[in-house]
Amino acid sequence: VNDELVGRHFLALEDFLPSEIDVLLDRSAGMMTTDPARPLAGRSAALVFLNPSLRTRTSFEVAMARLGGHAVVLSPGADAWKLESRDGVVMDGAAAEHVREAAPVLASMCDLIGVRSFPEMKSFEEDAREAVLRSFAAHSPVPVVNMESALSHPLQALADLLTFRQVFGNPRRRRLLLTWAYHPKPLPIAVPRSLLLAACRAGMQVTLARPRGFELPEETMAMARRFAAETGGDLAVCEGPDEAFDGQEVVYAKSWASPAFYGRFAEEAPVRGAARDWRVTAARMERTAPGAPFMHCLPVRRNVVVDDAVLDGPRSIVVRQAANRLTTTMAVALSLLGAGGGR
Ligand code: CP
Repeated sequence: VNDELVGRHFLALEDFLPSEIDVLLDRSAGMMTTDPARPLAGRSAALVFLNPSLRTRTSFEVAMARLGGHAVVLSPGADAWKLESRDGVVMDGAAAEHVREAAPVLASMCDLIGVRSFPEMKSFEEDAREAVLRSFAAHSPVPVVNMESALSHPLQALADLLTFRQVFGNPRRRRLLLTWAYHPKPLPIAVPRSLLLAACRAGMQVTLARPRGFELPEETMAMARRFAAETGGDLAVCEGPDEAFDGQEVVYAKSWASPAFYGRFAEEAPVRGAARDWRVTAARMERTAPGAPFMHCLPVRRNVVVDDAVLDGPRSIVVRQAANRLTTTMAVALSLLGAGGGR
């Protein structure tokens, strides 16, 4: 057990030292070959989903079961009381329960709380407060795991780092293209932001490709540049959908909303529509280094974000990437709960 990880909240990967992330990745890799017996026997996780999920929910539930523990899945507003997270409000609306009670009550029965709370996509400043997640973290005496918030998806980023390890061994100085892709809806920045920061911190040579108008927030870019400078990595920005693929060793596609038009998505629509050609095609993949794999966090819209020919071809590793969500979640649960022996 790495004592430094025990009892901590897991809200963003950048909250953890590179050495601590390495411990989590080593443990994740170990989960593939080691039967950890039932180190979480008698322990429970409450998984609070304010938004839908396939991978995060399944991986967390199965991770707890595989480790001998138990998971309770709650969907506030559907099968659990709708939650309020703001302080000092008069609760005469739809929300019947405040996180101030919900978090300690769940913690009195469970050893860990997972929270998925997507941004409302109206005000970036408001979304960036991550009010629901941060309220759980403030009021829970047990570790809170971010299962995707407005800014971060650390479980996804950890699985992505494990995937890079499987592809490259050490990903340092390897070339990653993170490319924006067209999507009919404005999507949160959590996945691309977490991936960009994790890859720069891992010392990768990152190219961020996106149309003009889809810049990531300057705070994110500044942190990514700082991480790259600290680790000997590199961060370049490209505004075209073709040449960015040249010589890349791994391609990661994701769509995100334009921060410049945040909350004014009717105004964003024509800018987005003009970028409809930003799709990962077989021809674009041909520009990469030979055999460079294709990654996406999923779910993905076929022939909108990426063509069938890529997704169904030998270079797509999206299923293996998603499968890595299981072992990485097992490693996180074990590490935060201080169980499972040293590795
Ligand atoms: N990548 C990911 O988090 O998938 P889900 O939204 O299905 O959990």
